[in-house]
Amino acid sequence: MQAVGVIGAGQMGAGIAQVSAAAGYRVLLSDVDQPRAEAGKAGIAKRLARDVEKGKIDADARDRLLERIEPVGDVAAMAPCGLVIEAATEREEIKRAIFAQVGKVLGTDAVLASNTSSIPITRLAQAAPDAGRFIGVHFFNPVPVMGLIEVIRGLATSDATVTTIESYAAALGKQVVRANDAPGFIVNRILMPMLNEACFALGEGVATIRDIDLACQLGLNHPMGPLTLADFIGLDTCLEITRVLFEGTGDPKFRPAPLLVKYVEAGWYGRKTGRGFYDYSGSEPVPTR
Ligand code: 3HC
Repeated sequence: MQAVGVIGAGQMGAGIAQVSAAAGYRVLLSDVDQPRAEAGKAGIAKRLARDVEKGKIDADARDRLLERIEPVGDVAAMAPCGLVIEAATEREEIKRAIFAQVGKVLGTDAVLASNTSSIPITRLAQAAPDAGRFIGVHFFNPVPVMGLIEVIRGLATSDATVTTIESYAAALGKQVVRANDAPGFIVNRILMPMLNEACFALGEGVATIRDIDLACQLGLNHPMGPLTLADFIGLDTCLEITRVLFEGTGDPKFRPAPLLVKYVEAGWYGRKTGRGFYDYSGSEPVPTR
């Protein structure tokens, strides 16, 4: 089994590294520098410690899993990887720069995949060393819990590349759905308008934050209400994806809710900044309206 490279040791990248190592792959986990890559691995160790306490994994298996993850400070270390997954910041110029760097060391059979949630795969493939060996592999947060991977084929993606990714997804025990390279793919095409609509409803005074969330939790059996989920994903990310849907389709039904724009302008991005629709400074999230 060839090694898997994961670029970006944040929430998504660390999750991808964890599930890859759990499937038995040796994983090289990189970030902008060695300390950040190490911090990504430390976060995985912390989550696994909770799983050991809960009896979901035994301590030996946890230790072996962690041994398979090697934090690296430079993507040049990824030369031995048969598959490299980029899960860096959702900014096109950052991803393009990474592809140029990793392209210098990638083997001639290796597949390069991006976990982008919104940037067109065909366009990103232009920055990859070989568009035939480039593909979208969209994981969901929290990666160890969510059972889905969306596979997005660019115009030039080869059949062999699709097979490589689908075998990898099967090894992880995740279900695959295939999406065309259209704005938002499948999940975000459907999810983001719902989250955006919840922002419209709040902005128009239809109901409070608590009631909008409770309505969807208990009335639709959603595990999280839409405003809680938007805070969880990050309001900046939600706005960015909604803009991709709006600009990519030209359809006014995707226009971002003014309240969502305002929150992002205020720097209230959700859980990661301590405030979004909820205030996270205490032990329990508190609705802010
Ligand atoms: N990492 C690993 N495991 C986690 C976790 C994390 N960050 N967060 C929760 N879990 C595990 C817990 O350990 C627990 O496992 P157990 O049942 O085996 O003990 C299980 O998930 C349930 O957790 P909790 O009991 O703490 O809390 P909940 O029951 O509220 O579940 C949740 C938390 C799984 C996050 C659930 O609320 C949920 O499914 N929410 C919706 C998540 C969602 O929609 N994600 C997709 C977002 S869209 C996306 O990612 C695409 C992007 O492009 C925007």
